[in-house]
Amino acid sequence: MITFLLNGETVEAEVEATDTLLDFLRETKSLTGTKEGCNEGDCGACSVIVTGEDGVARAMNSCILFMPQVAGRAVRTVEGVSGPKGQLHPVQATMIEHHGSQCGFCTPGFITTMAAAHKNGKRDHKDQLAGNLCRCTGYAPILRAAEAAAEQPVPEWMEEGVVRQPAAQPQNDTPYAMPRSSDELAAWCADHPGGTLIGGATDVGLWVNKDFRDLGAVAFVNRCEDMIGVEIGDDSVRIGAATSVTDVLEAMRDLHPSFAEMLRRYGSVQVRNAATIGGNIANGSPIGDSPPALIALGAVLHLRKGDARRDLPLEEFFIDYGKQDRAPGEFVEAVSFPRQPDRLKCYKLSKRFDQDISAVCGCFNIIETDGVVTEARIAFGGMAGIPKRAAHVEKALIGKPWVEEVIEAALPAFAKDFTPLSDMRASADYRLMGSQNLLRRYYVEDLGVAADVLEVRP
Ligand SMILES: Cc1cc2nc3c(=O)[nH]c(=O)nc-3n(C[C@H](O)[C@H](O)[C@H](O)COP(=O)(O)OP(=O)(O)OC[C@H]3O[C@@H](n4cnc5c(N)ncnc54)[C@H](O)[C@@H]3O)c2cc1C
Ligand code: FES
Ligand code: FES
Repeated sequence: MITFLLNGETVEAEVEATDTLLDFLRETKSLTGTKEGCNEGDCGACSVIVTGEDGVARAMNSCILFMPQVAGRAVRTVEGVSGPKGQLHPVQATMIEHHGSQCGFCTPGFITTMAAAHKNGKRDHKDQLAGNLCRCTGYAPILRAAEAAAEQPVPEWMEEGVVRQPAAQPQNDTPYAMPRSSDELAAWCADHPGGTLIGGATDVGLWVNKDFRDLGAVAFVNRCEDMIGVEIGDDSVRIGAATSVTDVLEAMRDLHPSFAEMLRRYGSVQVRNAATIGGNIANGSPIGDSPPALIALGAVLHLRKGDARRDLPLEEFFIDYGKQDRAPGEFVEAVSFPRQPDRLKCYKLSKRFDQDISAVCGCFNIIETDGVVTEARIAFGGMAGIPKRAAHVEKALIGKPWVEEVIEAALPAFAKDFTPLSDMRASADYRLMGSQNLLRRYYVEDLGVAADVLEVRP
């Protein structure tokens, strides 16, 4: 049984682990304003607002949000965005005024995403709406509507109350678990070594919706309080595995702005609000965006099995395609990296700027002292079956002067480190040449030359 607020009303529901919020809204509650487009997190038609225990309103894709993930939270659908007497929310009024809707299929998703951004005082409308697709209106009127609404106050009916999800009784035979701490999670994993952990479900949601997989025993990690948050200490930065990509992005803005900028292109606001850093590492994807940046920062992965904890350099976690150094019943508790002067640059090559998976993701952390390279950590996604360091390139740079000739001489070493594949995202030749050019780019940017397409002006 889960308890949550739906448009201000308390709802109690008996649910299965992988019942999606979208199906519950449309089929159980007849709240059909929330639309199903892609059913895989790509279009935003199913967006709703989820307010957590911290009081922060977040736009999320209900098609890949499982019901236990909203337990104890407040969900607001498009039906709950207008006031109790039918008053329009500012984003609804300005969408009408600026002709932001034609066929209207995408409109509920835009309205909820805009209302969440409006509540949070966000003005970066293009980023906020990058996860919402519209086939007919065109984005200019919608962006004008968001800009116009930003000037108006948040209506009082958008305040959310709180509802407590009663603590679950320990029951080994329940179909899913919602542990409150890493201790509880460790105990569950010991009892269910073959079970499936769910972080944000931005991968697992697709296994269910698209592959119709039966997950067996499931535990949701999004309530393990000691696994959520970024601790910035004097010597190190520790990120709990259940921390959302949104929260990592915010924490990186000051520490490593290029990492934050790359995460701005990770999925969409809705995807980043759900996806966890632990899921992005544990899934072992060769094209996950955070592992190359973390490897370049010298990250250490903190794994736990029962009461036993072990640490390993993040790059050693990725053994081969689909194979990670993680035993049955072991889980990712956190990842940490040393505090350091910011020398990190992260470059994501993809066909679209927003909401696209990397063809190549290159992260460079090169330190030079008195004109000589003293340390180099370079890691790539999309260049091998796993996120991988460019060890030969690093070797070709360390101890050498930080000059163009050395950069050029190091370029052939990329072919020693990587034998990339051709696939629908990019050819092997493109990947190899792209990665070499990214080293050139790091070098020229270091000299102060604008090389980013967003910075270069004619
Ligand atoms: C529309 C869309 C866009 C996307 N865009 C990007 C993108 O731009 N860049 C990118 O890198 N990815 C992207 N992804 C992929 C996805 O967001 C990531 O892989 C994500 O980080 C997975 O995290 P999660 O918490 O949602 O994982 P989940 O789906 O919950 O889990 C993924 C895997 O990790 C395991 N797991 C989760 N937490 C733990 C833990 N603590 N310990 C051990 N195992 C664990 C799960 O069992 C599962 O095997 C996108 C996905 C979608 C749907
Ligand atoms: S239906 Fe497309 S993101 Fe959910
Ligand atoms: S108004 Fe038709 S898809 Fe946006």
